[in-house]
Amino acid sequence: MSVVKLSLVAAAALSSLVVASAAGAAAPDWSKIEGKDITLFYPAQMSWEAVLTQGDHSGASKFREGKDCRACHENEERASGGVLVAEPDLEPEPIKGKSGFLDMNVKFAHDAERVYVHVAFKPGKQPDAAMDKIFETKVAMMIDDGKIAEATRAGCWATCHDNMTRMRSGGEKEVTKYLARSRVTMTRQGGDAVKPAAEIEKMRASGEYMEYWQARLRPGQAVDVADGTVLEKRAEHTGPIVEAEATQADDTWAVTFSRKLTGAGDFTKDFVPGKTYTIGFSVHAGHTAHRFHYVSLEKTLVLDAGKADFVVKQP
Ligand code: HEC
Repeated sequence: MSVVKLSLVAAAALSSLVVASAAGAAAPDWSKIEGKDITLFYPAQMSWEAVLTQGDHSGASKFREGKDCRACHENEERASGGVLVAEPDLEPEPIKGKSGFLDMNVKFAHDAERVYVHVAFKPGKQPDAAMDKIFETKVAMMIDDGKIAEATRAGCWATCHDNMTRMRSGGEKEVTKYLARSRVTMTRQGGDAVKPAAEIEKMRASGEYMEYWQARLRPGQAVDVADGTVLEKRAEHTGPIVEAEATQADDTWAVTFSRKLTGAGDFTKDFVPGKTYTIGFSVHAGHTAHRFHYVSLEKTLVLDAGKADFVVKQP
């Protein structure tokens, strides 16, 4: 009897536990900031190469002619995810009982020094895929500042290739996200050899990479933050630059990321007024890894004023 009581108390304490990875940044009062709901969906094996191939995707030629992904797919995320999570041609290794989509509320703010992102989502009843043995849930954001033309048009898909780990043309070997420009040639199966190191370093130095921030979550434990870049591979910054904290209550995760607006560290994008940024979100839920996640279509962000999905203001 007393054991049951104790575990209930422990569960209650856990559900309202605040777990911070690093102190310092004073987050804004999120209750006063308006958010936006977006829907992430399960992409299965629809790689960059697949979406560019007419035989695999009827939107391919229109995309090549200039129509962006969102122009055809926005507000269809739930339906797409529902198809992709269970369609044997696109998902040969379905996870039984997995939902095809995930809703997320996103808020942004900035002060003189830092940009803050607040994401809230309910993973719901997720089957345990046992791929990531440590982290139950991982949430990430990718950012581009206009340097990567294909990211402006397709968001995260610019980094998702057919020969990555556990994709159609990949295997178990570790091949992480990359940009097509880092490869000597690209085929339907993805990119082959990486261009010479000197060329890659030149690209990186001129800002040709996507930046990512990720919070890796375990109920009741400190957030594990990872951030870095995607160019020839996913490469973590040495020591996280981004700060994150997370709370879990009633099955809803609320995660706040923050970092300096400008000069945050080597190979980070500066957030400045007047520029349009492309962002994308992902959530790995139910101990998943690799492609077995939910992703958003490309979204836009500006600082202070302008036309974008997210106008980031000083509260
Ligand atoms: C001209 C409209 C159009 C554009 C632009 C377009 N698509 Fe599609 N897409 C479609 C249609 C129609 C389908 C369903 C038929 C099919 O699978 O070929 C589809 C299917 C898909 C699917 C499979 C799930 C589903 O809903 O059937 C994914 C994933 C997808 N598209 C992703 C993308 C991405 C990523 C981009 C941008 C790189 C993109 N699409 C651009 C029209 C478009």
